[in-house]
Amino acid sequence: MILEFLHITGGVIVIENWDVFLGPYEQAIDELKIKFKGIRTQFEQQALHSPIEFVTGRVKPIPSILDKAIRKNIDMKKVETEMQDIAGIRMMCQFVEDIETVVKLLRKRKDFDIIEERDYINHKKDSGYRSYHLVIRYPVEIVDGSKDILVEIQIRTLSMNFWATIEHSLNYKYSGQIPANIQKRLQSAAEAAFRLDEEMSLIRDEIQEAQAIFSRKNEI
Ligand code: GTP
Ligand code: MG
Repeated sequence: MILEFLHITGGVIVIENWDVFLGPYEQAIDELKIKFKGIRTQFEQQALHSPIEFVTGRVKPIPSILDKAIRKNIDMKKVETEMQDIAGIRMMCQFVEDIETVVKLLRKRKDFDIIEERDYINHKKDSGYRSYHLVIRYPVEIVDGSKDILVEIQIRTLSMNFWATIEHSLNYKYSGQIPANIQKRLQSAAEAAFRLDEEMSLIRDEIQEAQAIFSRKNEI
């Protein structure tokens, strides 16, 4: 229970032992990265196109947890359920079509439950942001027993990832207040990223064939 880590200082509730609090989150990320990278390996072993190009994961840094709690007015007592991205996984795909393949694979799994899905692929954000988001409830085994951890999974193409990474750094630079002219540029960059995905989809069969030949050549 989170209450064990809470401590009241001058009326403000703080987490007393971050290592203990974040331990299960670290464990969840370590385990999920291995599992999802394993999906890629299995496709490769069968000489099939992998819908997952690469996987990254992180536990939110403590200052970002505190920032977000203040920004979103999240009570630290409820941080485990109300902050759904303390643990975050990102899966990058080559083609937009791969995203749905990955989502379907995840829906079939028995090692976690999906508790939320957000489709920012078909419903892009005003910023231009596109990605498919899932929140899962993932049980980790700790010495006290089993503990459910919420993990946010973002699934996107390489092109969407490029855009989101750039936009994120600009947001950071301008503390969320990106100047209007740059915002406009970003929206048109998002359009270009969208068209790149479309173009790649059109020659997907051709690309996959080339990749298969290339990987066979490397095996020899
Ligand atoms: P958060 O408080 O940020 O979690 O927003 P939310 O609870 O409304 O969830 P949402 O699914 O919109 O966003 C969750 C995460 O998606 C963020 O923490 C970012 O990693 C990513 N994200 C959402 N919108 C944008 C965006 O416009 N630009 C970028 N670069 N990332 C975004
Ligand atoms: Mg969120």
